[in-house]
Amino acid sequence: MSLIRRCIVEKETTANPIWLMRQAGRYLPEFRKIRSQNENFVDLCLNTNLVPEITLQPLKRFNIDAAIIFSDILMIPYGLGQKVNFTKGLGPELGIINQEIISNINKIDFEEKLKPVYDSINKVSNNPILKNKDLIGFVGAPWTLLVYMINRYSPKKNINKVFFKDKKLIDNIIEILVKYIKLHIYNQVKSGASIIQIFDSWAGLLTDKDLEKYIYLPTKEITDYTKTLKIPVICFPRNIKNYKKFVDIVNPDAINIDYNVEPEQILNDIDIPIQGGIHPKMLLTDKITLKKEVLKFKRIFENHPYIFNLGHGVLPETDPDMVEYLIKFVKDN
Ligand code: CP3
Repeated sequence: MSLIRRCIVEKETTANPIWLMRQAGRYLPEFRKIRSQNENFVDLCLNTNLVPEITLQPLKRFNIDAAIIFSDILMIPYGLGQKVNFTKGLGPELGIINQEIISNINKIDFEEKLKPVYDSINKVSNNPILKNKDLIGFVGAPWTLLVYMINRYSPKKNINKVFFKDKKLIDNIIEILVKYIKLHIYNQVKSGASIIQIFDSWAGLLTDKDLEKYIYLPTKEITDYTKTLKIPVICFPRNIKNYKKFVDIVNPDAINIDYNVEPEQILNDIDIPIQGGIHPKMLLTDKITLKKEVLKFKRIFENHPYIFNLGHGVLPETDPDMVEYLIKFVKDN
């Protein structure tokens, strides 16, 4: 059994599994080389020769316990017929979502558009390098996808309050998203993904009174559905204030924490396996500082099933040597 499964399913505390969010990405020169020759990011995510190659790049360098399929959460809006572009320096840029797009959405077009993603998963899952390791498939949670679909840009810059007033449109899109997120999960699992992670990167934008409707209910439906496929599901409701309540209601198999969470506190609050939490900027410091941080996490989670990971993705300016050191240190100590 893979180390991640031993941790999540068997609740083993000595397995020390590790993988990293954005482990295949811009900090790796071999990724940057491919990226520089492929300007259109969505097309790159649909390239069934390059996606398997990029997905396995970090596994060729490091002793990590999982590959995460190289794709993006915004492939779902793309599959639903919305325009999705990634512009250098600006991040994602989506087309306007209108009634025409919504009424044209159908399962056949969606699966046809995303078939290359599933073909890539199938290809990667058969690679011997993944023997006893996991292949992580993923989706964006309905709330985070809704934010990108309606706001059209990252809410980091600003959020278009006018659009968010249209409650009927929002309810309609959430319902569509739940249905298609499930379908995307089903197809990834059928193609060979052995774990699913649900990213809710903008969970922290909501106040308490809206959590039930936009986060707890839809995410629980998707989490319950994933469990029926008999594979573990990990949730990452980034910056949600109350992880305990989220876990009590949604009940995923494991929870990824962000870097604002106090690890000691979460250990007190939560019984299920925990993943992540190390600040991505720790990889920008030096080996002594990084080592101290890893030892801190090892000590705190000594008797709790814990998967080493970060509290958000690897930063593009990270030195791959530091990633190598982190992984080696987790494994050797
Ligand atoms: O290695 C992996 O983790 C798998 C691949 C992966 C990508 N995106 C590739 C990517 C995963 C799991 C994602 C998830 C994702 N995408 C999230 C959730 C996690 C998070 O970061 O909060 C979100 C919000 C997105 C949307 C997105 N995609 C943004 C905001 C951006 C631009 C800014 C950024 O963070 O890079 C992307 C582009 C993107 N997705 C890149 C990669 C490697 C960079 C593309 C480039 O080379 O320019």
